[in-house]
Amino acid sequence: HFMQKEIYEQPVVVADTLQSYIRPLEMQVAMPQMDFDLSEVERVVIVACGTASYVGMIGKYWIEQMARLPVDGDVASEFRYRDPVLTGKVLGVVVSQSGETADTLAALRHMKANGVTTAGIINVPTSSMAREVDLLLPTHAGPEIGVASTKAFTCQLAVMAALSVNLARAKGKMTAEQEREIVGHLKEAPAAMNAALSHDDEIQKMAHTIAEARDVLYLGRGPCYPLALEGALKLKEISYIHAEGYAAGEMKHGPIALIEPSMSIVVLNSKGRVSDKVRSNIEQVRARGGRVIAIG
Ligand code: F6R
Repeated sequence: HFMQKEIYEQPVVVADTLQSYIRPLEMQVAMPQMDFDLSEVERVVIVACGTASYVGMIGKYWIEQMARLPVDGDVASEFRYRDPVLTGKVLGVVVSQSGETADTLAALRHMKANGVTTAGIINVPTSSMAREVDLLLPTHAGPEIGVASTKAFTCQLAVMAALSVNLARAKGKMTAEQEREIVGHLKEAPAAMNAALSHDDEIQKMAHTIAEARDVLYLGRGPCYPLALEGALKLKEISYIHAEGYAAGEMKHGPIALIEPSMSIVVLNSKGRVSDKVRSNIEQVRARGGRVIAIG
């Protein structure tokens, strides 16, 4: 299947994409030439659809944390009709694989008509969005044939990381040492993806467990929360199994009532401030007999 082929292309295309955004000797992040000053940005607005909108949500976590700029993220179909406030020095960012999604394109045009400077994280360089943004931040995922976005998503994240670091540097919120550390992690990402993809056998076993479930809940906190939303979207789209993504801390405010042995719960956790909290969410799920698949 094209989707499977594209999943396995990720280490290579993410490395290709990062090559345009990293100066390996200086251990710095680089951006294409732009004719505006990132240090003047006061606010960031990120707009996209579906999987690409989860890149926007992760961008909100990263840009707010690194650059200390307020970030609004929205799905394009809401943004374009809700008459959003776009005053001040706003950087409007659209994220799209195709560069043609009608709602995202309309949102981009709406921002431009309101005097917003725009950037686009886009995979198809000849697309309408690529032509219309003020700053094109290309992903080099190659053609994505599978309907469900996979390699484009991870390439978009690589570019979003680079943009976040650039904004942080421009706003004077990141030291050279911190930047070196992040660039080091970005350089390790393709090898880490390769390592993850080598767990094929375990993943197949998990798939059999999940296939028996009627409902699947994906849980995560911080940037793992949008990843949980993305996991749930992918499962719905590909397997037709009902799935929901939830912020793990919200579980006790409702969805916990649904947990029973026929439910699979995929928990995403990464190192960081909230890692212990996610672990305690796992214990709560187990206490109710839910089957936990932990990815960390
Ligand atoms: C889900 C998926 C869609 C797209 C969305 C936006 O697997 O592929 O949700 O992410 O339709 O498409 P682009 O990125 O082309 O604007």
